[in-house]
Amino acid sequence: MNMRDQLEALNAKTLEELHQATSAAALEEVRVRFLGKKGTLTHLLRGLKEVPDAERPAIGTLANTLKETFNNVLAQRMNDLKHQELQARLAREAIDVTLPGRRPHAGGLHPVSRALTEITDIFLQMGFPAMSGPEVETDWHNFEALNIPADHPAREMHDTFYLSPGADGGRRVLRTHTSPVQIRVMESYKPPLRVIVPGKVYRCDSDLTHTPMFHQVEGFMVDRDVHFGQLMGLLETFLRRFFERRLPVRFRPSFFPFTEPSAEVDMGCLFCEGSGCRICKGTGWLEVLGSGLIHPNVLGNVGIDKEVFSGFAFGMGVERLAMLKYGIGDLRTFYENDVRFLTRHAGGKDI
Ligand code: DAH
Repeated sequence: MNMRDQLEALNAKTLEELHQATSAAALEEVRVRFLGKKGTLTHLLRGLKEVPDAERPAIGTLANTLKETFNNVLAQRMNDLKHQELQARLAREAIDVTLPGRRPHAGGLHPVSRALTEITDIFLQMGFPAMSGPEVETDWHNFEALNIPADHPAREMHDTFYLSPGADGGRRVLRTHTSPVQIRVMESYKPPLRVIVPGKVYRCDSDLTHTPMFHQVEGFMVDRDVHFGQLMGLLETFLRRFFERRLPVRFRPSFFPFTEPSAEVDMGCLFCEGSGCRICKGTGWLEVLGSGLIHPNVLGNVGIDKEVFSGFAFGMGVERLAMLKYGIGDLRTFYENDVRFLTRHAGGKDI
């Protein structure tokens, strides 16, 4: 076979191979086999020197044309394959837009936030807007002004976290209750006052039934002729609305330095309805609030005339109320952030 025929035959064969290749890698392989340093065309053209002078230019031209054709077909094939690949991928990853959507896990309110929201809503409806105060408090606001002097045994009950003194040298604490906000509000505003104070409080205590941070809602009212009967009516109404039933509520004499007289508030046990169970320790009652008439010394400390004004105050633990209302058995689960717990107790609307 002369050189021209050999070239034509080789070209026909390689073009055929290009058409049969089904991937970019296979195309590249054909290219190397044909045009590479050790390729079949390169090899064939080495024989060019044996071709008679007269024929050589024509053969050279033919070789170039064949190379060009090869490259064109190669580029075309490459394009085709890419297109096919894209089509296949689009088909593979097609989304059926008529299928119903899959909703990702929706967030919800943490049970403590949920209880706080419910408590503040109920009191707002009864004319008590919410206010707040600092979590780092002065000794004066957290203790002294609330009629808890330095040597008072009540201080020990509070397991206080003490901080380094402030710029004025006074001792500071993480507030152990929300009661100091009573003082702050009474220092800044004149009666009549009706306020609740939801917020975080801190005590150096951690076991099955205590976490170092928890939540309280404080409430108080100062006006002319405020009396215990109003306090009783308010708290009974609050508890019945919060627990959504007509619970019995009782007031038991107690002691707090900042109230006189003081009372602890019990409600009928939600779980046994009074017959006695494990949760109410067989008493039929659950203790849920501390309360009383604001001590005259406290009014005096903030410059309110105790001859003209009187007031009541109360305080409650939010985690405890949330546990009772939502049936949560272990206080510590509030702060473990286990998503199963959070999902089970997530409240109402998505946020
Ligand atoms: N501050 C009290 C505590 O943390 C709770 C309390 C009791 C608040 C009686 C009051 C009250 O306002 O009158 O234990």
